[in-house]
Amino acid sequence: MSQMHPQLPENALVMLIGASGAGKSTLASTWPASQVLSLDALRGTVSDDLGNQAATADAADVLKLILERRMARRLNTVVDATNVEEAVRVELVMTAKKYGVPTVAVVVSTPLSLCLQRQGPRPANRRVPDDVVRRQHEAMTFSH
Ligand SMILES: Nc1ncnc2c1ncn2[C@@H]1O[C@H](COP(=O)(O)OP(=O)(O)OP(=O)(O)O)[C@@H](O)[C@H]1O
Ligand SMILES: [Mg+2]
Repeated sequence: MSQMHPQLPENALVMLIGASGAGKSTLASTWPASQVLSLDALRGTVSDDLGNQAATADAADVLKLILERRMARRLNTVVDATNVEEAVRVELVMTAKKYGVPTVAVVVSTPLSLCLQRQGPRPANRRVPDDVVRRQHEAMTFSH
């Protein structure tokens, strides 16, 4: 895989876990772009607005389909989404397991105060409300 992450299996499902603003997309950008499945980007793909929360379910459908096809090819794949809900993680891991691909969970455990602070400079459609970030952060800690 990448020389950037020699400690990881060559081909894995890399499941990023973290609140909004934690730095998941920044970390994801250290892998080749074709290996990154970004829920935000797919919201943009299905709706022309990557901040359109109403498009999340459709974007998640597309993400799952692409993940399935990539796992079938045993290709290294990074899932850039909060992944703080257990049910979401279970589905991702099950897909990898189905094809014998190992999963690596990467918890991006940035302090809550920094996650909140990083919402400030974002454009309005990319800003996640404080109470949502707080809940995501609690769920991240719990998942850890
Ligand atoms: N390791 C880091 N050091 C300093 N700044 C960082 C780091 N990682 C991310 N940032 C900054 O924090 C901000 C948020 O990062 P990023 O967009 O990667 O978060 P995210 O977890 O993808 O959030 P979201 O879930 O809302 O997409 C960015 O402006 C980025 O430049
Ligand atoms: Mg992001």
